[in-house]
Amino acid sequence: MKFGYFDDKQREYVITDPKTPYPWINYLGNEDFFSLISNTAGGYTFYKDAKFRRLTRYRYNNVPTDAGGRYFYIKDGDTAWSPGWKPMKTQLDKYECRHGMNYTSIEGVKDGVSAKALFFVPLKTWAEVQKLTLTNNSNEVKKLKIFSFTEWALWNAAADMENFQRNFSTGEVEIEDSVLYHKTEYKERRNHYAYYSVNAPIQGFDTDRETFFGLYNGFHEPQVVEAGKPGMSIAHGWSPIASHYFEVELKPGEAKDYVFVLGYVENKDEEKWESKNIINKTKAKETIAKFNTVEKVDTALAELRMYWDNLLSIYRVDSGEEKLDRMVNIWNQYQCMITFCFSRSASYFESGIGRGMGFRDSNQDLIGFVHQIPERARERIIDIASTQFPDGGCYHQYQPLTKKGNNDIGGGFNDDPMWLILGTTSYIKETGDFSILDEMVPFDNDMSIARTLFDHLSVSFDHVINNLGPHGLPLIGRADWNDCLNLNCFSNDPNESYQTTENQSKGSKAESLMIAGLFVVYGNDFIKLCKRVGNKAEAKRCQKHVDEMVAAVKKHGWDGEWFLRAYDYFGNKIGSNENEEGKIFIESNGWCSMAGIGKEEGLIEKALDSVKERLDCEHGIVLNNPAFTKYYIEYGEISSYPPGYKENAGIFCHNNPWIMIGETVIGRGDEAWEYFKKICPSYLEDVSELHRTEPYVYSQMIAGKDAFKPGEAKNSWLTGTASWNFYTITQYILGIQPDYDGLKIEPCIPKDWKGFNVTRKFRGATYKIKVINENAVCKGVSKVIIDGKEHSSNILPIFADGNTHTVEIVM
Ligand code: GLC
Ligand code: GLC
Repeated sequence: MKFGYFDDKQREYVITDPKTPYPWINYLGNEDFFSLISNTAGGYTFYKDAKFRRLTRYRYNNVPTDAGGRYFYIKDGDTAWSPGWKPMKTQLDKYECRHGMNYTSIEGVKDGVSAKALFFVPLKTWAEVQKLTLTNNSNEVKKLKIFSFTEWALWNAAADMENFQRNFSTGEVEIEDSVLYHKTEYKERRNHYAYYSVNAPIQGFDTDRETFFGLYNGFHEPQVVEAGKPGMSIAHGWSPIASHYFEVELKPGEAKDYVFVLGYVENKDEEKWESKNIINKTKAKETIAKFNTVEKVDTALAELRMYWDNLLSIYRVDSGEEKLDRMVNIWNQYQCMITFCFSRSASYFESGIGRGMGFRDSNQDLIGFVHQIPERARERIIDIASTQFPDGGCYHQYQPLTKKGNNDIGGGFNDDPMWLILGTTSYIKETGDFSILDEMVPFDNDMSIARTLFDHLSVSFDHVINNLGPHGLPLIGRADWNDCLNLNCFSNDPNESYQTTENQSKGSKAESLMIAGLFVVYGNDFIKLCKRVGNKAEAKRCQKHVDEMVAAVKKHGWDGEWFLRAYDYFGNKIGSNENEEGKIFIESNGWCSMAGIGKEEGLIEKALDSVKERLDCEHGIVLNNPAFTKYYIEYGEISSYPPGYKENAGIFCHNNPWIMIGETVIGRGDEAWEYFKKICPSYLEDVSELHRTEPYVYSQMIAGKDAFKPGEAKNSWLTGTASWNFYTITQYILGIQPDYDGLKIEPCIPKDWKGFNVTRKFRGATYKIKVINENAVCKGVSKVIIDGKEHSSNILPIFADGNTHTVEIVM
């Protein structure tokens, strides 16, 4: 069952039923100022950091769901309604929500009146702009009463939900003309305030929540709307809100537009005040003036659309598969931008409070983003590397506002360092900017112990080899990529964090085959980089360690039919046929296959066959099998989840691509493609009632075959799934790979594909690539023709001439 449809031409998903199986959301803003917005206008707004600079309030996991947002209440005679159906939930004559690239528009129609609200954050602007268009399509004059509504959060989203003995007394507002200002804590340590304006005279307002709703009423029954007149309240403490009130008269056929600006201002200390207790409003007024007419707003939206035209013109596929093309050309790239901006902080499943930017997550996010805005990727790499420790270990997370490592979580996740090599080499392959390697980058944000980024990569590599266990395999530390494989945790106290507790780690023998595979993949990548920059000594030194790791995996990491997953604290096998539960895992089989370990001996083929036999199901590849049915104290959180969910045999969409890439290593394009389609959201649109999350973005997890409800997804948007699937489809299946000295072409596709076309902008030229597969093979390039001439390798040269070059690839 579907709840809408894709409008590829507009690059929009159009929702036609407000009661989607879960709120289907979108993100506004892509640099400093952000909003989350659901298909019924729920969500919230923040500046840079969803924890420390929360502008508006939202209530997670509430009754009903999706509580809090930017709402309009329209009163037409005795009927009150909202264009997004919620919060009034008055039955609408028509409802349509269009989620586009960083904008959303929601239209409701009731009794001949259409209210269409457009929401977006203009480029380089610290504000959400809202354009409300009211149209009278009836034959009579309409007299409407309009109430806007947003509720302020008192900045720190965590304290906002906890510390009511203080919060209920601190709230402060100011009102001037049609602008409602929120200035809580401005007089002491804060240099910022927020505001909500409308570009028309108002006949009233409210800034106190209780006056607006009534103490015992919900969002759907504000007492001022019921009464048809504003309360003119001025908040003193309790819960400040911002609500404009104005009256509109519309003749038959007439339409009127109103522009609202919900913004954020920072002032220097000496410029904070206009006069005693009156805030300096200069900057707010400047922003409001930039958007005070419909023309200005429309121009800003056109600029935003153009910005996306550009970004999405860098990689375009024309495969003949509509569902594939819309993911690659639009939605998957869009999701990559969003995950790059937020890491795992703010979604409808991440509260924006618990987590900052992840070290491993952000590096992986780069591989889906780097072609879009390489300068921002460069800055991100430096920020991430700056939170590394001198021994190569690193803070697991950092806060975007301060860019400092997060002390509550600390470090000790032994896969973390290797991801920095992935992030950095991906950036250089895309841009050719080797100068990044010479940047002086601090350790733990301390510039006095800075070293070059190249040295950071060296210590990342060394962190693995300096932390090997009894089998010569990498010690796992707190966990590897799988946050829930906590082999040194041994927790029987529900008040302890699985992630940060190590009750028993001294003398641990817990080793990870996932890190082993990861180390071989990015160790080889690092060696290639060393050679490319002429550092033969480092290449040679590292080669020895990589070779030893390969040998150790073959000797101690092969279980007969697949790769082991790990050794536990005591040195017992995990992910072995000997185990009763958790006999086989996806991660080690993915990474060791990607690393090509034992390819000659047929190990990869065997391992991937075992994955197919034991882990694959209708909805994707589960993480482990059999699922754990009881708590294993020596394994940690993984066995805390019910079977089929999350890391315990859920379909973790993030790691399915590792198996797809593994399949391409041995040339099995049909298998890779089948796996791709199973989890690709556009292919799941028809089963939206089962899948539940948005059909235009990936979710972190789909319940696996052992779950109560297999196929049900959770945790959409912020997941490494976005970048890994984009990376896999574009670079390994379609096979267009940026490399240091050119664009390498190595597709691995289903046999029955006749071919496909890709346009790729790369290092200052456009490559129009036509892949022809008349021989019905999966892999292998037999002929390369560039601009009519045969070329001897499958690496297309760098032209950097601003021109378009036609390329024909015969498989
Ligand atoms: C979450 C985390 C990621 C981790 C994964 C597996 O998605 O963000 O860092 O690797 O779970 O546990
Ligand atoms: C765990 C989750 C995992 C996440 C981790 C970090 O509970 O299962 O996916 O990465 O927490 O917060």
